[in-house]
Amino acid sequence: MANTFVSEKQACFETLDLTSIVTQLLEVFGEDVVLASSLSMEDQVLTYELLKQQPNASIFVLDTGRLHQETYDVMQETMSKYNFSYQVYFPDQLAIQKMVAEKGPNLFYESIENRKQCCQLRKIEPLSRALEGKKAWMTGLRSEQSVTRHQLSVLNWDDQYDMVKVNPLLHWTTTAVWEFIESHDIPYNRLHKKGFPSIGCAPCTRAVPDGDDFRSGRWWWEDPKQRECGLHVGSKKEGKE
Ligand code: ADX
Ligand code: SF4
Repeated sequence: MANTFVSEKQACFETLDLTSIVTQLLEVFGEDVVLASSLSMEDQVLTYELLKQQPNASIFVLDTGRLHQETYDVMQETMSKYNFSYQVYFPDQLAIQKMVAEKGPNLFYESIENRKQCCQLRKIEPLSRALEGKKAWMTGLRSEQSVTRHQLSVLNWDDQYDMVKVNPLLHWTTTAVWEFIESHDIPYNRLHKKGFPSIGCAPCTRAVPDGDDFRSGRWWWEDPKQRECGLHVGSKKEGKE
């Protein structure tokens, strides 16, 4: 049924505004819709809209254990302002203990294999728990963020998790995101104003000069083609990340 929904509505979703996208998702999937929030400016826009339409909506954060203090600050501020709780998913404690004992806390700088192992344990495995039992997930992916995101659609079938994946802000510009945040007085991560257009884990994200590629501060020591953590992999109806 969900798969049919994607094939029938994919073209139409490309032209819908944010409010209509969220309304339709809630109508069709109800409590089985979940928002993945990294507390980025995009996710803050989605959080605002989703909570406006469904105050008890499911919003999860994958707390890798290596996030910036500024990310926890905006998380706290958002919880207080909108009076709700995130579902926070942590990595498996024993798996992290073993990895750090064997390879040290900074293993990700040593090889791509180590970096992928860390992302797998701290992000991907918790993501599969967060999506369990849900029918649709929403993300803050935007096509402006990278060439690999140009090929995505707003509404997709996610083969990996066998569910609907929706990127409501796919066609939004950075300016449009900031205008929405400012006009609705939405809390945002202070790092965005300090040269961080894209924010992940603290040891793997750095500030970039104005005008540089959005994601050039993420895993900056690696070849750009390798820079993805595996949260957003390709499927038949969406481009490869
Ligand atoms: S990543 O693949 O490089 O890590 P990016 O940081 O651009 O992704 O974020 C894209 C989207 O992935 C976010 O808008 C959010 O929906 C989801 N996401 C990324 N990191 C997290 C996280 N720690 N917790 C929940 N969702 C996340
Ligand atoms: Fe580990 Fe860095 Fe991946 Fe975070 S982004 S999970 S710290 S390798």
